[in-house]
Amino acid sequence: MRTIRVFAPATIANVGPGFDVFGLALHEPGDEVVASVSDQPGVHIRTITGDGGKLPLDPTKNVAAVAAAHYLKHIHAQSGVELTVHKHMPLGSGLGSSAASSVAAVVAANELFGSPLRRQNLLPFTMEGERIACGAAHADNVAPSLLGGFVLIRSYNPLDVIQIPVPEFLHCTVVHPHIEVRTEDARKILRRELTLADSITQWGNTAGLIAGLMQQDAQIISRSLTDVIIEPQRSLLIPGFDAVKKAALDAGALGSSISGSGPSIFALSDSIQTAKACGEAMRNAFNSIGLESDVVVSKVNKFGPRILPVEE
Ligand code: HSE
Repeated sequence: MRTIRVFAPATIANVGPGFDVFGLALHEPGDEVVASVSDQPGVHIRTITGDGGKLPLDPTKNVAAVAAAHYLKHIHAQSGVELTVHKHMPLGSGLGSSAASSVAAVVAANELFGSPLRRQNLLPFTMEGERIACGAAHADNVAPSLLGGFVLIRSYNPLDVIQIPVPEFLHCTVVHPHIEVRTEDARKILRRELTLADSITQWGNTAGLIAGLMQQDAQIISRSLTDVIIEPQRSLLIPGFDAVKKAALDAGALGSSISGSGPSIFALSDSIQTAKACGEAMRNAFNSIGLESDVVVSKVNKFGPRILPVEE
């Protein structure tokens, strides 16, 4: 029986000012999905590891299965697929955990059927996993996990996804405090109306961040890594947010904000040394209010998913 094993990486969505339109891929952590062709039609989940029993095995409720099912339907698959999902990152962390599972599942299914679709054309199916996960088919985690690099979702309707080159000096730090914030909840609290003044600031910064990345200018990146719309509302869900962000900036970060919908907080730096120093300072800041946390330091992952050897 043909079997494919795929790793899909964690992501930082929003990246400061770009709510629902910016995301970048990390090298680690990430989820793995093992997929095999099955005689039974549709998608079945054999097992899930690493989730502490929290994720549903029901294929109509599991994000990886839902995403894969949309893909199978699209290609009019004659056979079904059985999935084993290995979670290597915490749920509700702001690292794009559900996205990584959906991407790994759809990429594995596409490989199983001989890769009839190109990677970028798999995006709509992975977005269906996000719809199940949080009620909104946002693409700023699945697109960078699927395509690698820093991704701009210029438009959702029609879908228009653009990869933005990132400077070699750029390093990411993500600190994950051991609490959970559900994306669905973090979206519900957001105000629906914006002021014109905040909107002007925000679109200046989104354009500025793209300009800074493309011109490889750390100072433009630094000035643009500011979110005046979402961060002030969501930071209230993260104990110690202000102190952790200040610790990152004091340690030399170019900027810092909430990773995805939180509770993880990220920083971008212009060297690996600064990125590591930020991680230590941010973890200490969480520690000082009694919160344990994990630190990830990574360059931007330009490659996205990896096909892995199948373990016997
Ligand atoms: N853009 C999404 C949000 C990302 O902020 O709700 C969720 O990880």
